[in-house]
Amino acid sequence: MPYEYLESNILLNHKISEDIFEMKVELKNITEPGQFFMLRKNDSPTFLSRPLSVYYTDKKTVSFLYQIKGKGTQVFSLMNPGDKIDIMGPLGNSFNTDFCGKKTAVVSGGIGIAPMVYLAHELIKNGNSVDFYCGFKGMPYCTDILDKKIKVFISSQEGVAGYHGLITEIFNPTAYESVMTCGPVPMMKIIANMCQEKNILCQVSMEQHMACGMGACLVCTCETEHGMKRVCKDGPVFDGKELILND
Ligand SMILES: Cc1cc2nc3c(=O)[nH]c(=O)nc-3n(C[C@H](O)[C@H](O)[C@H](O)COP(=O)(O)OP(=O)(O)OC[C@H]3O[C@@H](n4cnc5c(N)ncnc54)[C@H](O)[C@@H]3O)c2cc1C
Ligand code: FES
Repeated sequence: MPYEYLESNILLNHKISEDIFEMKVELKNITEPGQFFMLRKNDSPTFLSRPLSVYYTDKKTVSFLYQIKGKGTQVFSLMNPGDKIDIMGPLGNSFNTDFCGKKTAVVSGGIGIAPMVYLAHELIKNGNSVDFYCGFKGMPYCTDILDKKIKVFISSQEGVAGYHGLITEIFNPTAYESVMTCGPVPMMKIIANMCQEKNILCQVSMEQHMACGMGACLVCTCETEHGMKRVCKDGPVFDGKELILND
């Protein structure tokens, strides 16, 4: 699907947790789970657009779930319904969901949950059975919107919900035929290594700093067995066996 560059209408932009916001924009677009858009407020003090993954889409609107990290995401959080936002996408490849009936684990850490919610719902639609492991530092968010067919395992490092500790401590890949993960690199490295040891298919979605978002500037490269690859164009989803993850 070719990408578009357009000015989109914000329909909703609200806080759902301490520093986590959901933004819904008018966007008639076909996207695949794992794909992302580059967003920028027209008169933003930040020169570059910021990449955000698709969290939900109904083919007429696209929703993003984002965490305030710096100036760019802070600017997003101050926008209101009715404001316009510049959007380019959909960009990047997607998770391979082109199989049916497989027992799949989706593993997220922190705001890495954003693309995984959309992914988990697509997997369910395709007839897969999905267990969703989500690790948080503090209070969990978004777990209540997951389809009831999805079995959810929660961990919190601060011990405020679910297992007290890291999600990697309660995840065992041997129960699954396929594993998909997004979150902090140290977490994804442990998950990918566990899967590789047991020869289980593992897809990893990388969240690298970006500039152009379309393969031209090489800001977003990551190391793989086959040389340096661009996260925005060759990814963001890679085979866990191929990636060389450095914490
Ligand atoms: C393909 C892709 C999809 C993404 N999807 C989402 C999403 O759905 N929701 C979401 O909240 N975020 C997502 N991100 C991360 C998001 O793009 C960054 O958090 C955002 O660009 C930060 O911009 P900022 O101006 O607020 O902060 P900046 O001022 O740019 O940075 C603030 C701090 O965060 C660090 N930082 C910035 N970007 C990243 C990054 N990519 N990885 C690690 N540290 C970073 C900086 O080093 C700095 O310390 C995604 C990134 C990629 C590449
Ligand atoms: S952000 Fe420019 S090549 Fe990826």
